[in-house]
Amino acid sequence: MHYIINAQPMDVIADPRTSLLDMLRDNLGLMGTKKGCNQGACGACTVLVDGERINACLALAVQYEGREITTVEGLSGGSDALHPLQSAFIEHDGFQCGYCTPGQLCSAIGMLGKIERGVPSAVTADLSAETMALDHDELRERMSGNLCRCGAYNGIAEAITKVHA
Ligand code: FES
Repeated sequence: MHYIINAQPMDVIADPRTSLLDMLRDNLGLMGTKKGCNQGACGACTVLVDGERINACLALAVQYEGREITTVEGLSGGSDALHPLQSAFIEHDGFQCGYCTPGQLCSAIGMLGKIERGVPSAVTADLSAETMALDHDELRERMSGNLCRCGAYNGIAEAITKVHA
């Protein structure tokens, strides 16, 4: 199967029953994407497919053949510099143990991309892209699929808000 993974064309041989998460970790050694619940409940496995966030544990790798997949390892775009959101997470203590962080980062970047494209959430369905504000309720709604057992939610929210501002 052929993919673009972190901007690199890759051919991968994997069993058709392999989840995207297991393919990334086991076949490609991209261990940044974490396995938490492995059933779509925690968001630790969130990656970007063509800029949209998905739970990689729920996806079969074969479903996404030919697509562009970005994991936490690819967020910097191949440079040594951190993605601005990674820097903001450090600045605002957006993690404690760090296990959920790759998923939080990918989810937030996908979410902010949706805002830029003017896709409304359930909370602000009546707002246009121009007026859409990332207030507290909006942010909680849009990031509700990513759990943090350390409770670093305030720092995560501050980091995302800073990058969105
Ligand atoms: Fe995929 Fe928890 S490991 S949602």
